[in-house]
Amino acid sequence: MDLFSEIERSEKDEIIALRRELEEANRLYYVENAPVLSDREFDEKMHRLQALERLHPEMVSSASPTQHVGSDLGNTHFETVAHRYPMLSLGNTYNKGEIEDWLNKLPDGVEIVCELKYDGLSISLWYENGHLTRALTRGDGVQGDDVLRNILTIPAVPTTLDMQQPVPPFVELRGEVLLPWRNFERLNKEREEEGEPLFANPRNAASGTLKLLDSEEVRRRGLITYLYYMLGDNLPGTTHYERLEMAREWGFPVSNAVRVCHSVDEVMDFITYWDTARKALPVATDGIVLKVNNLRQQQALGYTAKTPRWAIAYKFPAEKQLTTLRKITFQVGRTGVVTPVANLDPIQLSGTMVQRATLHNEDFVRQLDICEGDRVWVEKGGEIIPKITGKESSSSEGSHSMFVFPSVCPECGTPLVRIEGEAAWRCPNDQSCPPQLKCRLEHFVSRKAMNIDGLGEETIDTMFEKGMLHDIADIYSLRREDIARLEGFGDKSADKILAGIEQSKQVSWARVLFAIGIRMVGETTAKKIARRYPSADALQWATVEQLTAIEDVGEQIAQNIVAYFQNERNVNILLRLREAGVCLSATESEMPQDNDNQCLAGKTIVISGTFSHHSRDEYKEMIERYGGRNAGSVSSKTSFILAGENMGPEKRRKAESLGVQLMDEEEFLALINSTDNAYE
Ligand code: IVH
Repeated sequence: MDLFSEIERSEKDEIIALRRELEEANRLYYVENAPVLSDREFDEKMHRLQALERLHPEMVSSASPTQHVGSDLGNTHFETVAHRYPMLSLGNTYNKGEIEDWLNKLPDGVEIVCELKYDGLSISLWYENGHLTRALTRGDGVQGDDVLRNILTIPAVPTTLDMQQPVPPFVELRGEVLLPWRNFERLNKEREEEGEPLFANPRNAASGTLKLLDSEEVRRRGLITYLYYMLGDNLPGTTHYERLEMAREWGFPVSNAVRVCHSVDEVMDFITYWDTARKALPVATDGIVLKVNNLRQQQALGYTAKTPRWAIAYKFPAEKQLTTLRKITFQVGRTGVVTPVANLDPIQLSGTMVQRATLHNEDFVRQLDICEGDRVWVEKGGEIIPKITGKESSSSEGSHSMFVFPSVCPECGTPLVRIEGEAAWRCPNDQSCPPQLKCRLEHFVSRKAMNIDGLGEETIDTMFEKGMLHDIADIYSLRREDIARLEGFGDKSADKILAGIEQSKQVSWARVLFAIGIRMVGETTAKKIARRYPSADALQWATVEQLTAIEDVGEQIAQNIVAYFQNERNVNILLRLREAGVCLSATESEMPQDNDNQCLAGKTIVISGTFSHHSRDEYKEMIERYGGRNAGSVSSKTSFILAGENMGPEKRRKAESLGVQLMDEEEFLALINSTDNAYE
């Protein structure tokens, strides 16, 4: 074969490989909310595929990811609805020169609107005769999932259009749904405490949140939105900017970071300004969007299969730097997972000093193909946690050692085990592996658990090192003189700690159950279990089958609980805790009421709207207490809807069409109180 046809063949192979890789990356990004490629890597691969397809037009296919947007469909809980107008993506570049070229190709005198590119997920809001009727995700661009009930948790989204002019019969507003940094950090912190996987960045968190079934949880997480595009037939206005202003007047949240530019210089100024200023914004942004302002000109420029020709995005480069990977160390966590950690020559990145970065697990290190001594690229992944994204290509030819994952625990020498289906290696010695014991102690005293004042991480560490604490029950036999003798302590701090320990004996059984640190039993799960099993004695004999009958308790959690009580050492710890006076059973007020009033038995009830006498959670609890079942969505099985103020229009419509009865708060309380007055 001649050289030319050999190159051609390898390019074609590359096209096929890139298509496969990008499709899979799209699925992981949009459906699983767990991206494998950084945005930059994804965009680079996409640009390469576009270039190769241009060289081989005979291979162009509508099935190629260059021709369609990534799809977030795949969630069966929401109604899938066809978009009125296709929801496209934007062409993008990381290169200011290409932005300049794009601008220069436009007809003379064209006005450009510059906006921030918000890094969340797109949403399309439908207003029919002035009423919000649907909120569709982008889906595959042709159809999307209707997540209206979750969008209604965003206070700034108007449910009706309040305007002077006649209300247009149909208006669509498009924008970005975002989870602000603060809410994202709070959510991840909670997830960490609950032992749940963390979201890599606010975009994934927003996307995961918008697809939740539990709208109350969505409300609690606190999504926000910015709208940046208005569509509809025969709408007033001749420019994009006018439409944005109109949307703002109609009460929509529209960003103020918008500027009409008349020259390349003005556009570049906007980019330069926001590249720095965006760092102080409450939400994530990843670039600037440039749009032709005049709607006629937009129409004349038209669309490609996947993107408008009248808009383009400039994407900010992620800050990254080269440094030397000095050493790979291994860290053992509370649950025994062994995580490789990169120890780096310190570098300054996005305003902070970076010295260490997680390497996640063995597979991650192998994929990067890095060893000690390599020059590696460090990036702020999703702008939060430093991440190693690759090595300098000339690296790895030197004399350094190969990467070897340890076969025994670096802390206690126990052979590591790899749980099937998991990437992590784990030290199974949960009874005496020092970091595991220490982490369990730290968790026990933490704020959401026993909340022992004066016993912070550092004190626990010191006490552990000195042999004063081996397990959680030891906390209750700490002696005043031993604490006072520790460096930096005295009688006063000893008394404070002892008072905190004494106080912790009042902590509820549900929190104690969370505090003892059974794997995967987080705060919420512990509450649910404690409600069904109001004492350690009762829980001790629960079977996997009985436990999995509890909401949110899966097979794995149930097995962990059973295994916990099968272990004699744990039972012994619980006995010592009880002797010390720690509360291992629910008090009268926490106990579920007697079951004699089961007036809701056999009823399936949907709660919708807001209430004034009790919170939604209280109503949910009441329903269960009186023998009923809570359901998230209206169906033919729904017995009635407990309807508060501002009940979701979708639910109302469905209830009407199925003939399901609505009951207001007062009626509901009267129903219960006719046989019981526990809530009055
Ligand atoms: S305009 C046809 N404006 O970026 C016009 N999009 O990568 C399409 N995005 O799908 C959208 N901020 O989710 C537009 N100010 C902004 C934006 C924006 C963020 C998102 C949007 C879009 C994606 C394209």
